[in-house]
Amino acid sequence: MTNSVLVLGTQWGDEGKGKIVDVLTEQASLVVRFQGGHNAGHTLVIGTEKTVLHLVPSGVLRENVMCVIGNGVVVSPDALFKEIDMLTARGVPVEQRLRISGACPLILPYHIAIDQAREKAAGKQAIGTTGRGIGPAYEDKVARRAVRVQDLLALERFDEKIDAACAYHNGTLTGHGIDPVDPEAIKLIAREYAERLAPLIDDVPGMIHAHRKAGNRIMFEGAQGTLLDVDHGTYPFVTSSNTVAGAACSGSGCGPGSIDYVLGITKAYTTRVGAGPFPTELFDEVGKELGERGNEFGATTGRQRRCGWFDAVAVRRASILNGVTGICLTKLDVMDTLESISICVAYELDGKQIDHPPIGADEFERCVPVYETMPGWQANTAGATQMEQLPEAAQKYIKRLEELTEVQVHLVSTGPERNENVVIRWPYD
Ligand code: GDP
Ligand code: IMO
Ligand code: MG
Repeated sequence: MTNSVLVLGTQWGDEGKGKIVDVLTEQASLVVRFQGGHNAGHTLVIGTEKTVLHLVPSGVLRENVMCVIGNGVVVSPDALFKEIDMLTARGVPVEQRLRISGACPLILPYHIAIDQAREKAAGKQAIGTTGRGIGPAYEDKVARRAVRVQDLLALERFDEKIDAACAYHNGTLTGHGIDPVDPEAIKLIAREYAERLAPLIDDVPGMIHAHRKAGNRIMFEGAQGTLLDVDHGTYPFVTSSNTVAGAACSGSGCGPGSIDYVLGITKAYTTRVGAGPFPTELFDEVGKELGERGNEFGATTGRQRRCGWFDAVAVRRASILNGVTGICLTKLDVMDTLESISICVAYELDGKQIDHPPIGADEFERCVPVYETMPGWQANTAGATQMEQLPEAAQKYIKRLEELTEVQVHLVSTGPERNENVVIRWPYD
């Protein structure tokens, strides 16, 4: 029996994780975020209402679901309160449904300033970060310098840590010609942070354990995608956390046996936002069409997403890295108008054919995709809920992706709404 499902992205993010987490949490009682921060933008569409979540787990719109932010997430209190206020204004009792680990590192103003200053200084070499301070906050965590959520419960110690952090970071900022951050302003606002956050702090590993013991269903919600993983992605054009399945345990506080099923959310084509290698990127009318039909604009920064063909080399590697049990293929409907469809089945690197992605961005940049082409279906799949409703060419496309990625497709998403799915195997069964 499957009690816990881990949802993660197998590409460069924005695969449609939020929608699927919302769909599956109909049957879950706990949803856990375990890495990333408010660089994530997860979109939920319910009827005519669209909700974009950044830090709050995508189970929050469900009654009787507890949402937790695990220690692996870097938390900007400002961003969190903004999101809580947005949800509260819409009548979602988010403060009843949300708990947060005291071990989460805080994102503070100096992290954001450093992230943005570095990107500006990097010019053409910029990573194209979301500018949310994610990288600098993770650096502080690993350097054992982070100020954490728990520190807000002891404000004297908090103040000392802020003095030390500002002394450290302000040198970097002034080096970039940016005004230093005022520690007193952070200390002042921290009193408000403490008041609002204190009731939300809880023992996340204990909560997960209790839900498991009670036989409740748990959902782990990944952010970003496998190719943005700090170790396994297109380094250095990656985010600063591990986005692979293994991070769910260390980022929340449970063992590997706590995950029964890994659902790899996989777009039927590929998108990427920000800079870095993207072998199957399209610069032609097809790329434009995918972007327009797929409404491929960042849910966090509004930036236009780069679009391209499905990259089976990358997704096959992602399925190995994550131990993917089944794929949820999303946005199939976006491809409805295409006359023919290409799939990248291998790369050519310096004259040699390879079947796995190289390590690092330099070699990745030199990879030329080897394509296989299939006829498009040129028929409507939007909103389909049964396999038989999908045209034969679409079914063949799905079959071919299964062969190439060596993973079965268990769900097909055919639209942004909750009920627009073909269910082949329900992960919780
Ligand atoms: P996430 O970051 O992985 O949660 O994905 P985003 O929310 O950033 O981007 C996915 C976008 O595609 C959102 O606007 C969703 O509403 C939308 N979406 C999700 N699944 C489908 C689908 O199957 N078809 C279409 N047309 N849109 C989808
Ligand atoms: P969701 O969860 C797509 C990208 C940024 C940039 C790189 C590093 O919605 O899939 P960062 O701010 O994390 O230091 O930026 O990572 N990136 C994402 N791309 N979806 C996301 O999240 C992303 N989060 C970060 O564009 O290239
Ligand atoms: Mg997103």
